Amino acid sequence: MSAPRKLHIKSYGCQMNVYDAQRMVDTLAPEGFVETASVDDADLVILNTCHIREKASEKVYSELGRLRVAKDEAARHGRQMNIAVAGCVAQAEGEEIIRRAPVVDVVVGPQSYHNLPQLLARAKRDGRALDTEFPLEDKFSLLPQPKPAAIRARGVSAFVTVQEGCDKFCTFCVVPYTRGAEASRPVARITDDVRRLADNGVREITLIGQNVNAYHGEGPDGQPWPLGKLLHHLADVPGIARLRYSTSHPRDVDDSLLEAHRDLPALMPFVHLPVQSGSDRILAAMNRKHTADDYRRVIDRFRHARQDIAFTSDFIVGFPGEREEDFAATLALVTQIGYAGAYSFKYSPRPGTPAADMQEMVAAATMDERLARLQNLIDSQQHAFNKAAIGTTVDVLFERAARNPGQIVGRTAYLQPAHVMASEDLIGQVLPVTVASLERYSLLGALATPPGASPRGSQSPVLTGA
Ligand code: 5AD
Ligand code: SF4
Repeated sequence: MSAPRKLHIKSYGCQMNVYDAQRMVDTLAPEGFVETASVDDADLVILNTCHIREKASEKVYSELGRLRVAKDEAARHGRQMNIAVAGCVAQAEGEEIIRRAPVVDVVVGPQSYHNLPQLLARAKRDGRALDTEFPLEDKFSLLPQPKPAAIRARGVSAFVTVQEGCDKFCTFCVVPYTRGAEASRPVARITDDVRRLADNGVREITLIGQNVNAYHGEGPDGQPWPLGKLLHHLADVPGIARLRYSTSHPRDVDDSLLEAHRDLPALMPFVHLPVQSGSDRILAAMNRKHTADDYRRVIDRFRHARQDIAFTSDFIVGFPGEREEDFAATLALVTQIGYAGAYSFKYSPRPGTPAADMQEMVAAATMDERLARLQNLIDSQQHAFNKAAIGTTVDVLFERAARNPGQIVGRTAYLQPAHVMASEDLIGQVLPVTVASLERYSLLGALATPPGASPRGSQSPVLTGA
């Protein structure tokens, strides 16, 4: 048997890219590739790029400059290193990458990862290969399944793509162009994936998609199922303790999703619900097709369904035409909602999007200043949210050994890291932790039920009830 070839993937951007990187590893495993953490000994380096914000392509070219040095160095030692560019920059600018960067052997868009082995063979034969087609068939069914060992190595929490693409066309966003039209996977396929993951030790599933609650995959009854119904179905898979989904859009929150939050203890009360701006004028210019009040009403409906629910969001400051009063409306919305955290970004014109042609650019200094004010407000809300956990007892899903010997670390329902002194045997379990203190973003505490005591909910003759 020939020695394994080494694969290094560098991923940027969203969870979808993290997931796609794993799928690329699974696609290349049958070709004899194993992952390596270092670029220098890799036979194949894949840059899994992100196009969503600022200077994406410049970053790719400067990374390629560094890789050219590594590739030359490998060649001097008689080793061939192949370089591939994947992800959304590959999709949007594939031809130009081929033209501008001779170091690149393969360019592959997010819809074509199943073709990677053929593309590598084609590059070997012809020198270069490019595939940025949007195939008509379901690309998900073309990707190989991960091996049980690979699932186990990835830990207790896993992503599953349930939909991809977006039909919303917010005027600032490249996603509808790079990831294409909205498409949902059938319920049966998703359920198979989740079962397989659960059978190999996964306890928490995050359903992902660019517009995940636009989900409308075909159910076993032949009807389109909404996300809430899918969540109900997946909550019954044995071994699955926690369900999450990301990223959702305020316009696609329907009764089925709210019912899922009301009825499913496994569905975590933590929702990422981007709003982008609190100004109706800016929301209209962004083509969000909802107002700030529509968003407030959606938040209220979630809170009504599940009272311990918490939210995170995305914001863009300095969208073309944003005035001080528009920005003030954003701050007012943040103050009113009270977030557990949020991401805020300076607007960056993306070539080919309608907003890129808009006049009235906001001055860079104004953007910086607004970003700092918004981030201060969000940071203080996040800190208050985390601090409120001190003294309470919260469920933690333990994920791995911590850096400190004897400590293990897991996550709360709100994805806060939580550290306790306990045996690694507890990894994979959800256990109550009493939180003693907060260190930056991490909670420190102790197990509320010492291991070995009777699990909660069962009757023990030794313990007396209240
Ligand atoms: N400029 C700045 N931020 C953007 N985002 C998307 N496109 C842009 C852009 N052109 C942000 C949005 C989105 C998040 C994933 O990235 O806030 O929700
Ligand atoms: Fe982009 Fe999200 Fe708007 Fe779709 S809904 S265009 S992914 S910001």
